[in-house]
Parts: sequence; C-alpha cells; structure tokens
Amino acid sequence: MSQSPRFRYEEVADFVAGLAGRGALQPGTRAPSLREISTQQRTSLSTAVQAYRLLEDRGILEARPQSGYYVAKPPPALAVPTTTRHSIRPAKVELSGLMLDLLENASDETLVPLGCAIPNPRLLASSKLDLVLARTARVKGGQCNTYSPPRGEMSLRLEIARRALRYGQALSPDDIAVTCGCTEALALALDAVTEPGDTVAIESPTYFGLLQVLRAKRLKVVELPTDANTGTDVGAMRNALATGKVRACVLASSFSNPLGCTMPEENKRAVLRLLAKHGVPLIEDDVYGDVHFGEERPLPFSALDTNDNVIYCGSFSKTLAPGYRIGWIATGRHMTRVLETKLATSLATPVLTQVALASFLSNGDYDRHLRRIRREFADTLGRMTRVIEQAFPPGTKVSRPEGNFVLWVELPEPADTRLLFAQALEKGICFAPGVVFSASGKYANCLRLSGGHGWDSRIEKGLRTLGAMAGKALARRSLKP
Ligand SMILES: Cc1ncc(COP(=O)(O)O)c(C=O)c1O
Repeated sequence: MSQSPRFRYEEVADFVAGLAGRGALQPGTRAPSLREISTQQRTSLSTAVQAYRLLEDRGILEARPQSGYYVAKPPPALAVPTTTRHSIRPAKVELSGLMLDLLENASDETLVPLGCAIPNPRLLASSKLDLVLARTARVKGGQCNTYSPPRGEMSLRLEIARRALRYGQALSPDDIAVTCGCTEALALALDAVTEPGDTVAIESPTYFGLLQVLRAKRLKVVELPTDANTGTDVGAMRNALATGKVRACVLASSFSNPLGCTMPEENKRAVLRLLAKHGVPLIEDDVYGDVHFGEERPLPFSALDTNDNVIYCGSFSKTLAPGYRIGWIATGRHMTRVLETKLATSLATPVLTQVALASFLSNGDYDRHLRRIRREFADTLGRMTRVIEQAFPPGTKVSRPEGNFVLWVELPEPADTRLLFAQALEKGICFAPGVVFSASGKYANCLRLSGGHGWDSRIEKGLRTLGAMAGKALARRSLKP
C-alpha cells in the first residue's frame, strides 16, 4: 500500500505541533525563533519558514509583527454531541445502501481516508510482524498447513489469556475460542443466545458491521440512546428490558464506535445487575479496549460480571493486524454451542497467522507498539478536532473520545451528510455518513471521521475542504423555504 510522502518541513511542523500538543509550549507563549528551530532540527532556514507557515495555517502558531511567532490560543471547545431520545420499540434492521459504498471506497487510495476505521499499515508494527510471520513459515510452515483444533491454537489462546488477566479477566485458554476477527465472534455469540426473529438491545449509534450481522441473522433491534461521554442510557435499558421482549444485548466494552464513549464502572455494574435480573445475556465488543489514551485500560463488563452472563468478543484488528483476521471469544457457559456453530461456518481459523501472532505477543513487542499507536491516535484526534473547530460550520459538535481513533461529528440541522458524502467523494474525500450507524436511518446530520491513517497534510487539507463543503451545503439547505 502506498504512503503519502512526507516533506522535511512537515516533520519540523509536526515536531513543534507535538510540543504544543503536549503542553511543553503553552498557548500565548513565544515559540522558538526560526533560527532556533532550524538549528535544533538541523534544517535550513527556508524549511523552518515553510514549517511555521504550515503551523499558522493549522492555527497552532500565530505571527506577531516585529515580535516573532507565538503559540495560538485554542478556540473555545466545541460542544459534545447530545444523547438522542428515541423509541424503544423492537424494529427490523433497515440498512442504508451507503454501507457498501463506504466499504468499497475504503480501499481506494486516491481518496482522503477519513471513512473507514482501519489503522494505517504504516502505524502498525507491520515490518516486525512480517519477520515473525516469515520465520514462523520457515520453521513451522508444514506443521501449520492443517486445521487448527476447534478452539484454535493453544499458543495463541495462552497469550490472550495472559493479557486478559491484566484487565481483570481470569480466563484459562480453554475458556477462549479463536475466531476470524471480532465479526465472527459477534456472529457466534448472537447465534449462541438468540433465534431468528428475537430482539436484541444495542447502543445507538452503533458500529455498522454489527447491524449487518444482526440483519443477516434476522434479528430485530431496540436502539438504546447513548451519550457521547457516558455511553448507553441505563434508564432506557431498564425500560427496554421491562417490555420482556429483549433476548440479548450487545454493548461496546469501552471507546465505542462511532461515539468513542465508555460507560462509567458504576453504570456497567448497574447494566450487569439489570441484565442478570431479566436473564438477558450481554455480548460485549472490546475491539478498541487496548487503544486507551489514559493510563488505565477500562475494565470490560466481563471483569465485573459475577453471574456468568457475559460473552466477550475481541480482536487484533484495530491494533496490530486487520488483515490477519484474528479475533477471539470468551464464551462463558456457551462454549459447546459456539464451537458447533464455528465448525458449521468457517470450520477453523488459519493456523499460520495464529502461531505467528502468538510468537509476536510472547516477545514483548506488542506493549511497546501499543504505547506508540495510542500516542499517535490521541495526537491525530486532537489535531482533527482543532481543524473541525476552525473549519466546520458554527454549531458543529464533536465527540471527545478517550480511546479509539474515530470522531463523531454532529452538524447543525438541516444538514444531510448523505448528500455531503456523494459530493465529498467527487472531491476525493471519503467519510462515513451518520445513517450507516443506525438501524432506522437516524443521524442524517452526523458523520464519523476516522483518524486511523494518522496525521498528515493531506488529512488536514481534506478536513478543511470537507468543513467548507458542509458549511456551503448547510447555507443552501437553510435558505430553502
Ligand atoms: C466496534 C467494532 N467491532 C468489530 C469490528 C470488526 O472487527 P474485526 O475486523 O476484528 O472483525 C469493528 C471494525 O470496524 C468495530 O469497529
């Protein structure tokens, strides 16, 4: 996959922006002079000038006549999107045709990649992983050219169980089955606890791939209102469960997609109590758990559960290897049902990649790698937020995730991001329109922006263009009688 070339002046600009982002340069204080920065960064004066111009454009520095460059004061923070209120009546999943468009455009390298939540291979430990994969193929290739046991490779399950202990899950390798990504884990979990026609409670907005799985399984949904800071509304869940119609519930463990929200621990415990009281199992999706910006990884529901009422789904797709298609499921009491369904659908997960991943995890590189991508994603989302503050129409709201690498943006009514999506594609920009995150066409004035590519000038330019297009489209729609 090709990478955007980076110029020296962009690197210098990133260095100074990083100082400002980490608070080493405070707003309102003087930035290093052009001469100081060119000496410090071992670069020419003209490169330093270009870097500072770029920082001015980004709104990070401001030039004051006769006085030099100063760190700009950030504009007032945008509000966070509001919790939506909607019906808790079970309904069929109606999918927007835009989902397929979005996924097809995700692999088009000519587009500015703000659409799909796929980490840039440049940010993944791809070359180290390649070496491990090549060594595994050389040393164990023959042994790997077979079916894995139903639960998957023991070496990988051991590594997963070891890591899970750090975030409160006491699992043995036999409690875990390896799957083809988190997608298969979610599908197996739903198969274990529902029948076609049943109703599943989900957070709203939610990950569109989950909606696809629910529809494929002919399940109905109740979309629970979800707050961009505190996650799913516990009161709404209580009301939905009281109807007696809900057979299962699917929630993100932390840093949900697209809102980036995490329920406070006391809300997680309240949800677990409610679900246990109604005998409704919880399926949790923890694909983003390792991408936390704070010190601590939030505890998943399964670590707080005392009723064996949680099925845990995870994968390495957001942190290490989306192309390997490796996830896992900690099934609780549903192991037999899960394995039987796995045998009937994909039979087994490829062995070579499992063994290679186990080897990578065992040598300690994964933790170093995680620290690096957490910093990178936090920095990218911070910069994207600043551009949104400057370039999007007044009244725009944006989420403030503490993990993950996507932003949820709410444009003022009557914005319609379905139209904006088509216009943006024509200008070479891809983003995810809000409607794909709902089972019933909600969120037409919202969009999700992915920071998975990391920060560069192309992303910045794409965002600014998108903000200007949103402003123009909104002005046109507001003028209509
Ligand atoms: C919340 C969530 N769950 C699951 C998945 C799919 O994970 P995998 O690629 O491991 O199947 C995604 C991918 O975008 C996601 O965002």
